Amino acid sequence: ADYETILVERRDAVTLLTLNRPQALNALNSQVLAELLRALADYDADPAQRCAVLTGSERAFAAGADIKEMAGQGFADMYAGNFFAGYEQLTRTRKPLIAAVAGYALGGGCELAMMCDFILAADTAKFGQPEIKLGVSPGMGGSQRLARAVGKAKAMEMVLTGRMIDADEAERAGLVSRVVPAAELLDEALRTAATIAEMAPLAAMANKEMVNAAFETTLAQGVQFERRLFHALFGTADQKEGMAAFVEKRAGQWSGR
Ligand code: HXC
Repeated sequence: ADYETILVERRDAVTLLTLNRPQALNALNSQVLAELLRALADYDADPAQRCAVLTGSERAFAAGADIKEMAGQGFADMYAGNFFAGYEQLTRTRKPLIAAVAGYALGGGCELAMMCDFILAADTAKFGQPEIKLGVSPGMGGSQRLARAVGKAKAMEMVLTGRMIDADEAERAGLVSRVVPAAELLDEALRTAATIAEMAPLAAMANKEMVNAAFETTLAQGVQFERRLFHALFGTADQKEGMAAFVEKRAGQWSGR
């Protein structure tokens, strides 16, 4: 389609979304937001696409919301326009979405990565919430998602000082699932996405939905939600196929039903 700030490629069942504003280190402006939401809606709606990867460049996943776009805005503009609230839509993507982060993931860039299902990091990745240095704060969920991901101590230090953490510290803190050499990031992300793309699609959606419920519910409610979805999957053809394939020692052939 006709995108200017992102690249969208379909590689078999994997959609690769690449932020593409190199002159601004992939700073996120309203156009990036609109294009990303459109591309993700297309991905979610296309039954042939089973997993997506969101990435940036070698230098930057994204260096934040576009400071030049925000600089002149007042409270009334931000509040009336509900600035960047559209990003919430991204978290309603029902199919798996992996962030592959190399270089800077700062401010809105870190927040965008955290809205994905998990983050694979290159050894060059740097994460931070430097908004305080601009006289503001995270505004796309960063204070909440970072605190849940890395705990209060590290989140609080990061948002109050703007200190960046490198890939190893991010892995130790639980912000990223794995760190890989920068040269292998994209291949590894695509390989991981291909693995997920080979799973039964309804099961992939249900697994994602129940892990996300862990962040919205009490333990008892979350466990109940998991059990309901687990039971529900026994109403799918792919459960019959998956278990039959195991017994017959062959790979499952999913119908997506
Ligand atoms: C607009 C940006 C930008 C940003 C970088 N650029 N980050 N433009 N918004 N967030 C632009 C620079 O102005 C410059 O353009 C070009 O990208 C290259 O950046 P440099 O600064 O020259 O590169 P370097 O010296 O390597 O430094 C990299 C950097 C630095 C450390 C990442 O760019 C930086 O500190 N950026 C801002 C990071 C930040 O504060 N992010 C949080 C934003 S607030 P020119 O035209 O000069 O070459 C935010 C709020 C989220 O994200 C909440 C929203 C609701």
